[in-house]
Amino acid sequence: MRHAVVTGANRGIGLELARQLATDGWRVSGVCRTSSAELRDAADAVWDGIDVSSADLREALRVAAGEASIELLINCAGILQRETLDDLNVANIRRQFEVNSLGPLRVTEALLPNLVQGSKLVVITSRMGSIADNSSGARYGYRMSKAAVNMAFASLAHDLAAREIAVGILHPGFVRTGMTGGNGNWNADEAAAALLERIGELDLASSGRFVHANGEQLPW
Ligand SMILES: NC(=O)c1ccc[n+]([C@@H]2O[C@H](COP(=O)([O-])OP(=O)(O)OC[C@H]3O[C@@H](n4cnc5c(N)ncnc54)[C@H](OP(=O)(O)O)[C@@H]3O)[C@@H](O)[C@H]2O)c1
Repeated sequence: MRHAVVTGANRGIGLELARQLATDGWRVSGVCRTSSAELRDAADAVWDGIDVSSADLREALRVAAGEASIELLINCAGILQRETLDDLNVANIRRQFEVNSLGPLRVTEALLPNLVQGSKLVVITSRMGSIADNSSGARYGYRMSKAAVNMAFASLAHDLAAREIAVGILHPGFVRTGMTGGNGNWNADEAAAALLERIGELDLASSGRFVHANGEQLPW
């Protein structure tokens, strides 16, 4: 059975990805800090107590994964904090880099030995990390951290091509979750279904592209 690992799987978009992958016949391991009843219902395994910004992340993930192959790794965990020029909270900005930029890169590094030829690697990023698409400013930490993770995964697409691992850099749309205070254009289950369609299409030819869940290619 194909094995998918999803971070941020206890709630929001990550939970919906885990649910739908399980329904589609994947063996799902959900990574989280604290599990939820919904994740326990959906996933085959819950790797809890794992903070993607923690110093012992690599060891914790390697112990959890063991020798199991991973055919799909989705980095979904993320945070959004609000800074303005009047209140430039540098600690918040640094925290968003730790979770949103370094988190997915470090999770990927830890689980690379488990990815196999033909595996897919995905980061759920945001179009707010697009410099070309920035028409409203602000959100310094979130925008900067998502631009940085886009760059990291563009590099991963090059570096993992020889191992035939395709990399997806996906924006989920504006989704009604805790992150958005319930605002958005669609629900997490709808966004997850669209993301899984994009992941289904992902191959080495499309690896490294920055794509909206609706299929639109986004500018960097
Ligand atoms: N919602 C949108 O409109 C939208 C738009 C663009 C991009 N995105 C991206 O989509 C992804 C999922 O967002 P969402 O809307 O589902 O947000 P959410 O409902 O707030 O869920 C965020 C998830 O990330 C986890 N997380 C946060 N910090 C973590 C850490 N240090 N270690 C491990 N897990 C951590 C949370 O776990 P806890 O329960 O432990 O906090 C939770 O599972 C994020 O990367 C976000 O940037 C969302």
